[in-house]
Amino acid sequence: MSRQTILIIDFGSQVTQLIARRLREIGIYTEILPSTANQAEAVAKQPAGIILSGGPNSVTSADTPRADEAVFAAGVPVLGICYGQQTMVAQLGGLVESGNSREFGRAEITIASSSPLFANDWPAASAQTVWMSHGDHVAELPDGFSVIASSKGAPFAAIADETRRYYGVQFHPEVVHTEGGIALLRNFALSICGMEASWSMAAYRAQAIAQIREQVGPEGRVICGLSGGVDSSVAAILIHEAIGERLTCVFVDHGLLRKGEAEEVVSLFGKHYNIPLIHAEASDMFLGRLAGVSDPEQKRKIIGNAFIELFDAESAKIEGARFLAQGTLYPDVIESISAAGGNHVTIKSHHNVGGLPEDMKLELVEPLRMLFKDEVRALGRECGLPESLVSRHPFPGPGLAIRIPGEITKDKLAILREADAVYLDEIRQAGLYDEIWQAFAVLLPVKTVGVMGDARSYEYVCALRAVTSTDGMTADVYPFDVSFLTKVATRIVNEVKGVNRITYDITSKPPGTIEWE
Ligand code: XMP
Repeated sequence: MSRQTILIIDFGSQVTQLIARRLREIGIYTEILPSTANQAEAVAKQPAGIILSGGPNSVTSADTPRADEAVFAAGVPVLGICYGQQTMVAQLGGLVESGNSREFGRAEITIASSSPLFANDWPAASAQTVWMSHGDHVAELPDGFSVIASSKGAPFAAIADETRRYYGVQFHPEVVHTEGGIALLRNFALSICGMEASWSMAAYRAQAIAQIREQVGPEGRVICGLSGGVDSSVAAILIHEAIGERLTCVFVDHGLLRKGEAEEVVSLFGKHYNIPLIHAEASDMFLGRLAGVSDPEQKRKIIGNAFIELFDAESAKIEGARFLAQGTLYPDVIESISAAGGNHVTIKSHHNVGGLPEDMKLELVEPLRMLFKDEVRALGRECGLPESLVSRHPFPGPGLAIRIPGEITKDKLAILREADAVYLDEIRQAGLYDEIWQAFAVLLPVKTVGVMGDARSYEYVCALRAVTSTDGMTADVYPFDVSFLTKVATRIVNEVKGVNRITYDITSKPPGTIEWE
């Protein structure tokens, strides 16, 4: 961390990550630290400014989280948002009350006086639309503070101590419903903290390459598991740029990938980039172990264990490798810090199949651990990876095995691969691929009667699924036109032998999950 970083102390708001994303979008590097972690240590690294996030608690209870004293002793600007504003006020000698004036949703505030926080974007006396979500409110300001904006429900909607450069807002500038919220964050970072908007993917790439070289040293060798997905691909390319031939990629091909994916990985990494690549073709082994297994969790376990076994065996052949690359992303990092005692409520329990064997004793190289998913894509483009790979939808580690409810066979896999390819081809042709978070076909263990030509058919049912989402935690059904769906259905039934009926899954998450198993 440095004078070019904003430290965000996370009190558990559902939208804390948005603060980081908004600032990164305008070229400001940010790091999020759960309030339960060592705040003083992070502040000692001298960030240019500190943001205190919102959170679900009430500062009127004594046992709720607070900003460390180091935050207010650092002499850097501080912006408190919602709970962050309230704890700042309470800690600096003001008063916060729980009360009747709860506000949720859109609200209008009036700007009381000009402030560098508002700069030219929100002139004095103007009315601005913001997004509120609070039960408690500030009732008395600490010494040195004054009101710079107010609303009916929140007389202290925005407050400032311009001398100490402390600011507090009751509303959430990071959500899109606060019109001009980004301008406010920009003013805080650029004018108040004196930062430059210099953070970019090109800068990240150079910095990450330097860091990999430093960590691995002049002789070190790295193993990287490739899955065919965006994260491991971008990690591999970056490490290859940093240390060249001292990177070996291991691609465990479990035979559960989509059509053409295995070939693409081998040709792109092995041939195009010339990265030493071990291609462990093991579909028979995986299918053998999966024979007769229908339970989804058992499938996951079998695949996970076989994957690790093979990965272990293959990487043992790479002499002198001391490092293992992983495509860990920033949300995983935040989640794992939170899981160790944080104040978020939801924790995702999916394990990627690339999961790390605990006894491998390899040091981790994680060049993406400070990035969000869309930033990894931007970095992939910056590194010249093909768009088809960079913008690829997320794909689960156990692959098609969890898209065939019931027993998996070679035949069913072949049918599903073809149906899925037709569906995705139509989505791409219609220009809809990038609007969708995930789209895929599922092969149901059900046969139904149909009529094809003059003959009766008795074949499998294929379900289509497409959802929009921002993180996979919740999802909405993608609203295709019926004409699009009927076109896909016609093509699949005509082109894919073994399927005679198509359904579209219209369940959102919750209550459904994205995958069928
Ligand atoms: P669900 O089905 O839980 O999926 O709504 C949410 C996201 O996670 C992916 N997913 C998995 N990814 N291993 C993975 O690596 C798994 O076992 C697994 N199960 C689901 C799913 O594709 C979606 O993006």
